[in-house]
Amino acid sequence: MNYSVNNCTLIDFSVTGSGAGFFIDPLRNGFEAPFPVKRMYYLFDIPGDKARGGHAHKALKQIIVAIKGSFAIKLSDGFAEKMVTLDNPGTGLRLTPGIWRELFDFTPGATCMVLASEVYDEKDYIRNYDEFLAYKQACHPIK
Ligand code: TYD
Repeated sequence: MNYSVNNCTLIDFSVTGSGAGFFIDPLRNGFEAPFPVKRMYYLFDIPGDKARGGHAHKALKQIIVAIKGSFAIKLSDGFAEKMVTLDNPGTGLRLTPGIWRELFDFTPGATCMVLASEVYDEKDYIRNYDEFLAYKQACHPIK
C-alpha cells in the first residue's frame, strides 16, 4: 500500500437543505466515509498561535473536517509534502495511515472534527519525526 500524500484527498459530503440551514451526513459508512467509523472526536478552543498533531499513525485512517472556522494542515509522507486548508463543514480531508500531520492557523472558535477507523490506541502513534522517517523507509518506502 502506497501511503502517499497524493492519496490524502478531499471528500465532499452531500449537503441537503436550503435557506434555514443545511444537513450533512458524513457517517454514512461506505458512502460518505470510506471506512467504518469507530470513533469521533473534536478539537476546539485552540489558540491561533498553537499547533496540533505532530505525529503519524501506523494503521489509523481518519477524516478531518473543519466543522467551524478554518485551519491549515501540513502533510508529509516522508518524501513529499502537501498543504491543505480546511474551511468548510461540507468537506473532509481523508488521511491514510503513515502520514505525518501538523494542524495550525486555527481561526478563533475553529472546531476540528475527526472521524477515525479505530478506537484510541497510543501504540498506533509515531510521535518523533526521525522515527517516522525510519518507519517509512522500513515499512512503506515511497521511492
Ligand atoms: P493527540 O492525538 O496527540 O492530539 P492532537 O493530534 O490533537 O494534537 O492527543 C492528545 C492527547 O489526548 C493524548 O495524550 C492522547 C489523548 N487522546 C485520547 O485520550 N483519546 C483520543 O481519542 C485522542 C484523539 C487523544
